[in-house]
Amino acid sequence: MIGNSGNLLPHTTNIFQKKELKSVFIQIAGIAQYLWDRGWAERNAGNFSINVTGFFNANELDRLSFYPYVPLSKQYPHLARTVFILSGTGTRMRDVANNPVENVCFIFISDSGSAYHLIDENPEGRSARPTSELPTHLAIQQQLLQKNAQEKVVLHAHVTELIALTQLAPFTTEKAVNSLLWGMHPETVLFLPDGVGFIPYTIPGTENIALETLNGFENHKVVLWEKHGCMTVANTLAEAFDNLDILAKAAKIYFLCKSTGMEPEGLNHLQLKEIRENPPADTPIYKKPDFSI
Ligand code: 13P
Ligand code: ZN
Repeated sequence: MIGNSGNLLPHTTNIFQKKELKSVFIQIAGIAQYLWDRGWAERNAGNFSINVTGFFNANELDRLSFYPYVPLSKQYPHLARTVFILSGTGTRMRDVANNPVENVCFIFISDSGSAYHLIDENPEGRSARPTSELPTHLAIQQQLLQKNAQEKVVLHAHVTELIALTQLAPFTTEKAVNSLLWGMHPETVLFLPDGVGFIPYTIPGTENIALETLNGFENHKVVLWEKHGCMTVANTLAEAFDNLDILAKAAKIYFLCKSTGMEPEGLNHLQLKEIRENPPADTPIYKKPDFSI
């Protein structure tokens, strides 16, 4: 790491105590607790990034460039001067839930997009470092900005039910896994009409998994990582959790049916078509989206 925050910093409010971000921290704590309670975050499993650039004015952003400078292995030009909250590598979701401030970090992407500044002013005195899946988070966040998408949140979790599904050879293609998930419950096609992307097993934390995942997000809001977990994009952490919850429910229904020794029937083509063409009027995704974090 190069650079030094030293005492170069003009007077600033501690970023972790910025009052506009309070609701974001409340949401982080709540969703981290859900992930732990569901068993989708054993040990340090799971991570998230939230684009919080909108909470800072130009002067505040300028000041963030005084913080320690960490080169990135790849350049993200569209992320220049953006601010992210990231879960810390090695941190436990149950600890994030109890004390989000101590277990997340803020980064500010440099003007060229080839480095980040780590805002190391954690009032608890312990600075978390970005998740090891940083390359994937940054690649997806950049893709969202390039597409002018509303989504600000990327969430990765080890959703047990979905990992189990990707252990079964017949479901290791995008077509097969989507047809199963859509067939198990009407909510799946209602809320995830584009289904999921499927990424064959790839080593976690690498540029390679980032690249593969990026392709998956071209047409989907959720991507399954074979034998590892899944990643989703959403407007808020709560909605990101919902995406995974809906899929976990569908997978659970499948396994429950199989446990009786019988094959589930699944919704048929016509039933699925009917839902796609006539979604209930009050389905939240068809309402004006909520852009608040
Ligand atoms: P981190 O603790 O580095 O976020 O890693 C957790 C994980 O799930 C990696 O895929
Ligand atoms: Zn993981």
